[in-house]
Amino acid sequence: MGVFQIFTDDDIASVRKAGAILSGCLAHVASLVKPGVTTEELDRAAEAFIRDRGGLPAFKGYRGYPATLCLSVNEECVHGIPGKRVLKDGDIISIDGGVTVDGLYTDACRTVAVGKIPKQTQALLSVTEEALREAVQFIRAGVRIGDISALIQRIVQREGFSPVRSLTGHGLGRSLHQFPDIPNSGEAGTGPKLPERTLIAVEPIVSMGSPSVVTADDGWTISISDGSLSAHFEHTLLVWSDRCEIIA
Ligand code: MF3
Ligand code: CO
Repeated sequence: MGVFQIFTDDDIASVRKAGAILSGCLAHVASLVKPGVTTEELDRAAEAFIRDRGGLPAFKGYRGYPATLCLSVNEECVHGIPGKRVLKDGDIISIDGGVTVDGLYTDACRTVAVGKIPKQTQALLSVTEEALREAVQFIRAGVRIGDISALIQRIVQREGFSPVRSLTGHGLGRSLHQFPDIPNSGEAGTGPKLPERTLIAVEPIVSMGSPSVVTADDGWTISISDGSLSAHFEHTLLVWSDRCEIIA
């Protein structure tokens, strides 16, 4: 088993700064999403937003990743690389970003509609966001990782959608991905218990169809294997004794 990283007050001050920049960045990028915009334009806006406020784009250069954001459209579920793709009415796009301040990492994502989307697609977005919101309400010190996984699974499956099990949430702090993994499905009462003052990224990733995924030739873009739409919402959370704090 791994070790939970525990944060000092100074660390937490830096994490909060990074989180505020990241939350602002995602809101800004979401406001720019409309038919006709390229994913590259959104990425450029995000990088300028983050650097102007004294943060660093956490994903850029991470294992060779080339951009500030992961922008995943429709059946792409994570790690889509920004480029010349033009967004069109009826698409959905997940906007996933990370910011570091003083070497501390934050990571967050939301999926938004481009123009008008069908009711069933809106239901996918709503249930994925609801699973994250319910997890936030539930998380505090003493909760087990398996409890979080089971909660996400239950909410998602109630709507007839599939959590993507091979893509997980994670601890973070001095690195972007560290102990523990937080799967989007699992069994309550299992896994390690969260301590106070640790930092986790909880990220339900949900498919309208198959739960299995494939990686594209670019080595990054991960899509649903049967081409179904997928949604992704993620918060960085700081664990306290009686609640958790949304950092980004
Ligand atoms: N939120 C993504 C994740 O946790 C961050 C990917 S960063 C990248 O997997 F550089 F790998 F794209
Ligand atoms: Co993440």
